Amino acid sequence: MASPSSFSKAILTLACVVLLIGGTRAQLSTDFYAKTCPKLFPTVKKIVRAAIANETRMGASLLRLFFHDCFVNGCDGSNLLDDTPTFTGEKNAMPNQNSLRGFDVVDRIKSAVEKVCPSIVSCADLLAIIARDSVGILGGPRWDVKLGRRDARTASQAAANNSIPPPTNNLSALISSFQNQGLSLKDLVALYGGHTIGQARCTNFRARIYNESNLDSSFARVAKSNCPRVTGVGDNNLTGLDFQSATSFDNSYYINLIKKRGLLHSDQQLFNGGSTDSFIRTYAKSQSTFFKDFVASIIKMGDIKPLTGSNGEIRKKCRRVN
Ligand code: HEM
Ligand SMILES: *[C@@H]1O[C@H](CO)[C@@H](O)[C@H](O)[C@H]1NC(C)=O
Ligand SMILES: *[C@@H]1O[C@H](CO)[C@@H](O)[C@H](O)[C@H]1NC(C)=O
Ligand SMILES: *[C@@H]1O[C@H](CO)[C@@H](O)[C@H](O)[C@H]1NC(C)=O
Ligand SMILES: *[C@@H]1O[C@H](CO)[C@@H](O)[C@H](O)[C@H]1NC(C)=O
Ligand SMILES: *[C@@H]1O[C@H](CO)[C@@H](O)[C@H](O)[C@H]1NC(C)=O
Repeated sequence: MASPSSFSKAILTLACVVLLIGGTRAQLSTDFYAKTCPKLFPTVKKIVRAAIANETRMGASLLRLFFHDCFVNGCDGSNLLDDTPTFTGEKNAMPNQNSLRGFDVVDRIKSAVEKVCPSIVSCADLLAIIARDSVGILGGPRWDVKLGRRDARTASQAAANNSIPPPTNNLSALISSFQNQGLSLKDLVALYGGHTIGQARCTNFRARIYNESNLDSSFARVAKSNCPRVTGVGDNNLTGLDFQSATSFDNSYYINLIKKRGLLHSDQQLFNGGSTDSFIRTYAKSQSTFFKDFVASIIKMGDIKPLTGSNGEIRKKCRRVN
């Protein structure tokens, strides 16, 4: 049998290994800018609040920016980089082109933050704070954001095409795309609740409302009235992802899924007789459970492959590398 001293040595070694492994994941912290940029949070929130007061949908667009950043090689601000004649970024990737928006608001926030603490706060962290503020302002939960990410000096259009799931995905494709990011079935359903706010273009739901049968007829009538059957007509016409409640962050999205009022094919996949149905029922019954799980999952999403230490940079402008 091992002596007490070799036993405690083994425990100590184990603790060190755990710390080392844990250390590479736990580099983000909620007080990262507490000393270097104490005015950060009020500076960001003021502009997010004004942008949403001007246009409610902007809150949704800003939340989506964070998702589309984190799913493409980690939360590193890569989707904010503009294309140039010698550089192809992610803005014209299939899921983003003609669709992702809010870049001007991010620019305004970045300039305001540069004024109070120059070259301190990354664009990647700004996206995390902006997403948090947007959800809170539209009536959703609040949480402490983990910070300390740095900005990518590269972007990948191919990764944006491949890593962000399209609305034509079936449930198993959605599950594996989240699994590829280290996110669980529960994370998928909770994060998908982001569709409680915002809008989609006719081109993304036409095939569903005209061809699918797992669809509420009164909902279909309303959706069709704004999205003609013929491709090319009204393609960019918008409809709320959460029927009649697309401007408030609540659990009605899940209640609507149970009523077969999912706008996108992929939305209704979450409640179609499969393994995610029970989560949907839980969130439809309890907004507080949805809020609690959404917070846990969006913090987990924010932990995807951040650049830290001396990797990446702190961009001066979010649209281009320094
Ligand atoms: C799981 C797979 C997902 C798919 C297939 C998907 C797909 C889509 C599509 C097709 C649109 C409409 C885009 C357009 O028509 O221009 C959209 C909008 C949106 N998505 Fe998702 N999404 C997913 C997950 C998420 C997640 C995890 C979040 C955030 C937590 C999110 C937040 C949003 C928001 C807020 C909008 C509305 C944006 C606006 O109005 O500007 N989505 N999504
Ligand atoms: C306010 O929203 C409108 C769209 O509703 C947009 O055209 C305009 O640029 C916005 N203004 C500001 C200052 O964000
Ligand atoms: C990404 O998708 C867009 C739009 O379909 C396409 O034009 C582009 O060539 C794709 N890029 C890569 C690198 O695969
Ligand atoms: C889901 O879609 C994938 C391709 O994206 C296909 O291989 C698979 O058979 C589909 N699964 C079901 C259950 O329809
Ligand atoms: C409905 O499905 C048929 C057969 O797959 C297809 O030809 C047609 O384009 C679809 N209609 C719409 C509006 O997507
Ligand atoms: C697009 O939406 C607008 C506003 O709802 C509507 O007036 C117009 O008829 C729609 N276009 C088509 C082709 O349905």
